[in-house]
Amino acid sequence: MPGTPPTTVEIPRTSLAEVQRGDVLAQSIYHDGRTLFAPGRVLTDNDIQELKRLKVEAVAIRERDAKPVGDKVQTDPLNKEMRAQAINTVRRVYEDFHNLDRQHGREIHSLGLRLCDEVKQATRLGVAVHDLRDHSNYTYQHSVNVTAISLAIGIRLGLTREELNLLTVGGLLHDIGKMKIPPQILEKNGKLSNQELMIVRKHPVWGWELLKECTDFDPVVWAIARQHHETMDGRGYPDKLMGWQIHALSKIVTVVDMWDALRSERPYKPAWHPDQTLAFINSPQMTGKLDPQVLEIFNQLIVPYPIGSRVMVTGGRTGRVVGLNFGSYSRPILRLDAGGSFMDLTDHKGLEVIETLELAA
Ligand SMILES: [Fe+2]
Ligand SMILES: [Fe+2]
Repeated sequence: MPGTPPTTVEIPRTSLAEVQRGDVLAQSIYHDGRTLFAPGRVLTDNDIQELKRLKVEAVAIRERDAKPVGDKVQTDPLNKEMRAQAINTVRRVYEDFHNLDRQHGREIHSLGLRLCDEVKQATRLGVAVHDLRDHSNYTYQHSVNVTAISLAIGIRLGLTREELNLLTVGGLLHDIGKMKIPPQILEKNGKLSNQELMIVRKHPVWGWELLKECTDFDPVVWAIARQHHETMDGRGYPDKLMGWQIHALSKIVTVVDMWDALRSERPYKPAWHPDQTLAFINSPQMTGKLDPQVLEIFNQLIVPYPIGSRVMVTGGRTGRVVGLNFGSYSRPILRLDAGGSFMDLTDHKGLEVIETLELAA
């Protein structure tokens, strides 16, 4: 109609306080003159945090479907503050490795008790931890991750309080021997020579020696440091122990240690996707190496397709993970790219996720 001004469709805006993980943006969000998020983006917890940080007050989201967006799952057994405190304490103790004394022992034991209490409360856990890509902090972050997830497994295995305390302290200190590896080897950008590899492989014995000299730590804690690279088939290091010779608590740390190293970005390798890491740990080449009972619980705890990931299912359909089903993390709820409808994989037993196309931001 001539003379009629063009109309624009006004999409109602939702206050950021009401925006939920899994909501889909209807309009772009700009920041500093660039597009921060494009329409169609499925918002993750991290995205919402970022928007809050940038003080965005409201966003346009697509109408929510009646379909539930899955179960509420705790993705990290530790809250941010506890994680930061733990990393700091571990760093202080590791850096003082030459002078380990009772004070360090006390600090680690008291941190251990707090970690234990916190992880016990994480009953609806589906682990999808993201690290800051801070290489200088890697060993400390890694020690805290390994401890937190080992504890979650230990709790589900029904370990006693005393065993959990030993597992915590052993987890926190398992890599202290790495402090004796020259930094140019530890942080080398590229493949290690055989000679360098031999030096790296001394860290379990070095850790055991350091902890043995400090009277405050239980021999089980020394054992965890020495045995965490042993595998049950006798092909691990340093002592090529067989399964029955390896301490039960050390077998927990071994599984988590391997997972955390694979999923992390390192100077010599990119971070592996969560589904790749899980697949490797359960692959035929790992058969007989890891404790099956530990592995079973571990597999139930780790989320292979975190919210926000884009995946492909059998038959080629693709979509974003918008929700998780508690206890069935390999069967998430997807929002399909074509058509935008929801698909809950627990309702489609004949379909499987076959590939991660894009990792959650
Ligand atoms: Fe290690
Ligand atoms: Fe480690």
